Amino acid sequence: MKVAFFSAKPYDRVFFDRFNINSDVVIQYYETHLGPHIINAIADVFAVCVFVNDKLTAPVIEVLAAKGVKLIALRCAGFNNVDLDAAKKYGIRVCRVPAYSPEAVAEHAVAMLLTLNRKTHKAYNRVREQNFSLTGLLGFNLHGKTVGVIGTGKIGKAFCKIMLGFGCSVIAYDIYPHDDLQQGGVTYTALDTLFEQADIVSLHCPLTPDNHYMINAATLSKMKKGVVLINTSRGGLVCTTDIIDGLKNRQVGALGIDVYEQEEKLFFRDLSENIIEDDTIQRLMSFPNVLVTAHQAFFTEEALSEIAQITLGSIYHFLNGTEPAAAVVLV
Ligand code: NAI
Repeated sequence: MKVAFFSAKPYDRVFFDRFNINSDVVIQYYETHLGPHIINAIADVFAVCVFVNDKLTAPVIEVLAAKGVKLIALRCAGFNNVDLDAAKKYGIRVCRVPAYSPEAVAEHAVAMLLTLNRKTHKAYNRVREQNFSLTGLLGFNLHGKTVGVIGTGKIGKAFCKIMLGFGCSVIAYDIYPHDDLQQGGVTYTALDTLFEQADIVSLHCPLTPDNHYMINAATLSKMKKGVVLINTSRGGLVCTTDIIDGLKNRQVGALGIDVYEQEEKLFFRDLSENIIEDDTIQRLMSFPNVLVTAHQAFFTEEALSEIAQITLGSIYHFLNGTEPAAAVVLV
């Protein structure tokens, strides 16, 4: 049985081929993302396996259904790129990987925070040029600072625990607070209180229609001057033009983003020989206090192994007519 695998990278093949042994599944890898340009090439396919920037809109899903596709297997946690109502309407099942090493993402958020604060990226380059000066590398202690965490699910929780270990005071906002975190020393607050009190704000909630651009000019104005903002969640949570204004007027002291609202045109590709037409990302990258990574927070051995095993497990279940664990099934 064939599975069409979109946005395939060499490392995807390594992990999926490693775990797809002794099965009837033949994986057909496509480097391109899934969209209207490729959809007519799909034939005799049981499932499509997709990633964060494949766009599963209603028209795309309608064509998939007409071609007999039975399953959309997301090899990621977020599913804002899939029209679930359309999938339901056309009788296509949708599964995802709800959790794969949340620590991978949490640790990357911490890496971004430490890099921005202690400027290790600049120090690395400086010392290689035999410049041993410290001027311009001044940071601040994380110990004793207030960290505001928005979204305390699997990743947010892992992030909270690391920050508590640093001796930070951790405040959090979630539409469903978690008792165990409160017992562990995290204080839940209203969102506005978090904005007002936090020295560092880290986003760990999913992107939904309700929280699109939750970080915007109005919410930035409620934050402490010089706030450090970290987003490893989804680009659409942040209004990038408002953030640029915030950086220019020093309201935002530093910004670390692993996700960007227009990332599908840029990320996961080597564009070093190209002219980048996106002026917004170019402006962002021109700030000395902005760190952009290209959606790599999940990118560890452990996470890729789990992603491959869980995704393949779900595909095998659906192929055999059995139901995978409820947590992986979206539709
Ligand atoms: P999760 O489902 O375990 O936790 C999400 C939490 O956010 C839940 O506690 C939920 O109640 C809360 N939440 C939902 N809407 C909210 C809102 N409007 N305001 C505040 N809290 C809200 O998800 P998990 O695994 O922790 O992942 C979080 C997000 O991280 C994913 O949705 C995805 O966008 C992103 N992610 C990024 C990766 C990367 O490589 N950069 C990799 C994996 C996930």
